[in-house]
Amino acid sequence: MTTSQNLVELIHKLPKAELHLHIEGSLEPQMVFDLAERNKVELPYKSAGELARLYDFEDLQSFLDLYYQATAVLQTEQDFYDLTWAYLKTCQTEKIVHAEIFFDPQSHTSRGIPFEVVLDGIHGALARAESELGITSRLIMCFLRHLPAAQALDTWKSAKPFLDRIHGVGLDSSERDFPPRLFADVYALARAEGLYAVAHAGEEGPPAYIREAIELLHVSRIDHGVRITEDPDLLAQVAERQIPLTVCPLSNTRLCVYETMAEHPILDLLDRGLLVTVNSDDPAYFGGYVNNNYLALAEALGPSADQIVQLAKNSFKASFLNDAATMKWLTKIDSVAAELSLRG
Ligand code: ADE
Ligand code: ZN
Repeated sequence: MTTSQNLVELIHKLPKAELHLHIEGSLEPQMVFDLAERNKVELPYKSAGELARLYDFEDLQSFLDLYYQATAVLQTEQDFYDLTWAYLKTCQTEKIVHAEIFFDPQSHTSRGIPFEVVLDGIHGALARAESELGITSRLIMCFLRHLPAAQALDTWKSAKPFLDRIHGVGLDSSERDFPPRLFADVYALARAEGLYAVAHAGEEGPPAYIREAIELLHVSRIDHGVRITEDPDLLAQVAERQIPLTVCPLSNTRLCVYETMAEHPILDLLDRGLLVTVNSDDPAYFGGYVNNNYLALAEALGPSADQIVQLAKNSFKASFLNDAATMKWLTKIDSVAAELSLRG
């Protein structure tokens, strides 16, 4: 299938929000090498090209093994700042005007990097992006689910003095055999402090984990959630309650959740009334940022212009922006789409 030039232009020009982005997953191979040199870290690869050739994953775990290894080059506040700023500059070129960003404090504190160093670096870049680029953001702290829940509670305690800069909590890392219910206590503490709750569920794990995340963690969004297709009752409930799914098409094909993009259910879910959004997950590893995800699904699934507009609108409807900001962007999307269709 070839995507029409009009659709390609629409994808590039529509304002979009990104709601599922691990900042550590935006660490490009060249930056791994630059930071390794700056911090005198020895890498087991000779070049950025050699590293990138390893990005041929068979499942989530094979990716995570490399991802955690690469994060070891992130050591100083400046490193976290540079990483985040590079992502936000890319947002500017992609017309991403709002980003809700995950970070994994445990993959840094476990290496002796203080929580505050990570947060100060990321937050410094977010503040600059809002004032210089007009890009708004929210920060979501993820707990690593392959580690014991007691360590998530320790992480929560470390975060308590900084909650003015953290908007939500999330759950990521190896999904199989690490059900959401293990983290109910730490989520209850975070929600009691007024934080939003989201969780990865139904990426590799069963639909039952989506149900647990909703019923036991009381999440307001599900990250991935694509295996909801296996449970029609749950699908109907999630559609009825308009609980958003932050879907990541390139991630799902690169991690072999689907063999080809042609099998991806995102448009089917959209047509069944689910509030699905398009996101990049770990763009440095999976073949690109948000626009590449739209382009890849457009190429394989042949969406209509209305479906692309709906996906962009969903990204704001599913965001943690207030109603006024959401309305502003929905109106802007309508005017960009109308202008392009008049010309087309
Ligand atoms: N951490 C970074 N990317 C992830 C993904 N796709 N699933 C689970 N944990 C992650
Ligand atoms: Zn993710």
